[in-house]
Amino acid sequence: MSTPIKIHQAADHVGQDVTLAGWVQKRADKGKLQFITLRDGSGAMQCVVFKKNLPEEQFDAARHITLESAVTISGSLRAEPRAPGGYELDAASFAVVGRAADPYPLAPKRDGGEHGSDFLLNHRHLWLRDPRQTAILRIRATLVKAIRDWLDSNDFTLVDTPIITPSAAEGTSNLFATKYFDEPAYLAQTGQLYSEATIGAFGRVYCFGPTFRAEKSDTRRHAMEFWMVEPEMAFTELAENMEIIEQFVSYCIQTVLRERAVELAALERDTSRLQNVLPPFPRIHYDDAVKLLQANGYPDFPWGEDFGAPHEDAISAQFDKPVFVHHYPRGVKAFYMQPDPERPDTVLACDLIAPEGYGEIVGGSQRMHDYQTLVDAIDAHKLPRAAYEWYLDLRQYGTQPHSGFGMGLERVLMWLAGLPHIREALPFPRLYRRFYP
Ligand code: 4AD
Ligand code: MG
Repeated sequence: MSTPIKIHQAADHVGQDVTLAGWVQKRADKGKLQFITLRDGSGAMQCVVFKKNLPEEQFDAARHITLESAVTISGSLRAEPRAPGGYELDAASFAVVGRAADPYPLAPKRDGGEHGSDFLLNHRHLWLRDPRQTAILRIRATLVKAIRDWLDSNDFTLVDTPIITPSAAEGTSNLFATKYFDEPAYLAQTGQLYSEATIGAFGRVYCFGPTFRAEKSDTRRHAMEFWMVEPEMAFTELAENMEIIEQFVSYCIQTVLRERAVELAALERDTSRLQNVLPPFPRIHYDDAVKLLQANGYPDFPWGEDFGAPHEDAISAQFDKPVFVHHYPRGVKAFYMQPDPERPDTVLACDLIAPEGYGEIVGGSQRMHDYQTLVDAIDAHKLPRAAYEWYLDLRQYGTQPHSGFGMGLERVLMWLAGLPHIREALPFPRLYRRFYP
């Protein structure tokens, strides 16, 4: 009897009769010999289909099989040092489960050219089978696990936050509006405000889920739906927030480097600078970041403005590790950030900018904890007070200085895997003017 196995288990079954189930990734027709590379999700293996070893109709089926057909192949497994992966299957039977239509849309082009990015995105449901895409998404899955592992073992409790919300949290210009029956509602831009409530019960929490921003700009760093992990800590000020961020980010990077070395090598990612990502990270005050910009290509950059992607790149180019910029001007940041008592024109915010031009990966801050300061901020931002009564309550019942941050999963993945565009960092990206498939 033939044993069903997954390709990654091959080492344990050398010399045995096994059955593989998967998709035809590649084939070469050499007459009486057919070479079929089968992919089953755990790996890929070359199967040698020799005419004299199979019933005739099965050999014919193998000879005429189309790319990406679903098939099962049984036969004897042998070690083959010259084969990619180190093993080969000598087929004794071949069965078609689901024959693929011909031609496969993503088959290599006859002229050797590459498919365009629009074409690939329109076929994302099939493009995902490409080994590069698989490697990226495996790295993503490991990054998610590293994020959870670090937080779970450092006293943070996972407390989920809602996606449908009655009010804005990160500015009103990029809200996705919807209806909650007859009332206006919005898709969450962040879970932070709710996490500020749950720290009152748990001390340290995190939420981790999809986040929505209607960013009407077609950049390589913006998705309309992205995943953000947001830790929040009671009794914590800005300096400690930055210490937590650098430990957390370093753990995530080092874990992925260790556990996904094969995939990173397949992506030809030069990881030498990532190996360096260990605490402490450099910290610069916004005032000094402005001076740095003025001295490095932006002589007219005015104090008080937010950084765009080119400015972030100019700043990060000065450092080998991720760099914190802290104490941003109040005017460019969200309403809830705590002003610096010594410099009330700035807030106790910290953004972490990745090296190698990957931009802002973390945004964090100390939150306003004084009731009246927060009331004034809500009024100054012309936000409807009634929608924030519950949030103000948190400053009435056991208020304390607290801080937290949000890390964009796809931004970190872009940096780790060396991706030029965010579209490859999500299984089904929602981009400006694109949400198919
Ligand atoms: O800086 P942001 O807007 O911060 C917040 O939402 C805070 N509430 C977080 C907190 O303190 N709990 O977003 C945080 C991070 C950014 O640094 C970036 O990595 C990512 O989320 N991000 C995006 N990623 C992809 N596409 C977009 N459109 C993104 N917008 C933000
Ligand atoms: Mg930000």
